[in-house]
Amino acid sequence: MSERDFVTAESGAVGTGNEMLAVRNIDFSYGQLQVLFDISLHVPRGEALALLGTNGAGKSTLLRVIAGLEQPSAGSVHFAGREITGAPAERLAADGLALIPGGRSVFTDMTVEENLEMQALGIRKQRALVRERRELVLGTFPGLAERLSQPAGKLSGGEQQQLALAKALLLDPDVLCIDELSLGLAPVVVGELLEIVGRLHENGITLLMVEQSLNIAAQLCGRAVFLEKGQVRFEGRTVDLLEHDDIARAVFFGGAVAPNNGSARARRRSAPGRSSRRD
Ligand SMILES: Nc1ncnc2c1ncn2[C@@H]1O[C@H](COP(=O)(O)OP(=O)(O)OP(=O)(O)O)[C@@H](O)[C@H]1O
Ligand SMILES: [Mg+2]
Repeated sequence: MSERDFVTAESGAVGTGNEMLAVRNIDFSYGQLQVLFDISLHVPRGEALALLGTNGAGKSTLLRVIAGLEQPSAGSVHFAGREITGAPAERLAADGLALIPGGRSVFTDMTVEENLEMQALGIRKQRALVRERRELVLGTFPGLAERLSQPAGKLSGGEQQQLALAKALLLDPDVLCIDELSLGLAPVVVGELLEIVGRLHENGITLLMVEQSLNIAAQLCGRAVFLEKGQVRFEGRTVDLLEHDDIARAVFFGGAVAPNNGSARARRRSAPGRSSRRD
């Protein structure tokens, strides 16, 4: 993949070409309803960035825009130095940008094996790669390897998330965007999944993780971006969020964020106060 220097979204400084993912000034609307306002973030190669925020803040929508499933009305998305705004999701997946969407993203009526096979269907050129990586991926998830002929709907919640991860890994992604890996799962199951994701990260995968839980985010992600009502409210070290009582409360309890009274370490933005439509 070609790499070039470019201006980073956050600082305006010229980057080193080490930027894996960058979002610049994204606006997005569902019909007349604007839900993302001038969002910028960047994820250097090999970093794990947490995307946190209140309910309905736009976290899932932003991941969908990044992964090519939704088109922004303004702004741009960049992957490994190339602008990818508007590129189809399948092509991005084949090129190494994988999304594990929120909820259970497996086909419950199909077997585990069929779920894995489906991953290659829309990506013709990648069929050989998927076949080649199948054994490797199943080695990471021995529990799935034993259940290949079972309907995915019979798997536990944690096993279904394993299958969602396995599907994403079949394409050997450079970037993994994960929407709420932990949703509805018992802590011990979440712990097992985090261990696997942590190993993937150690092996070089760049992570963008949407999480409800600050504790979970802090285990893997050194840096966090916090969204509120479609705007970036905080960007900085994940541990610094713990010092932001107002924001931390919103992450822990899902409540609205009260007006912030300032912190030297946090970097906050003012409301953009503009709106654009995607008619
Ligand atoms: N398909 C859709 N059509 C219209 N509005 C939508 C659609 N999907 C989401 N929204 C709205 O867009 C806003 C952002 O939703 P989104 O799901 O991105 O938020 P989120 O931060 O992921 O929330 P949660 O924490 O509940 O998962 C919300 O107001 C939501 O109601
Ligand atoms: Mg969501």
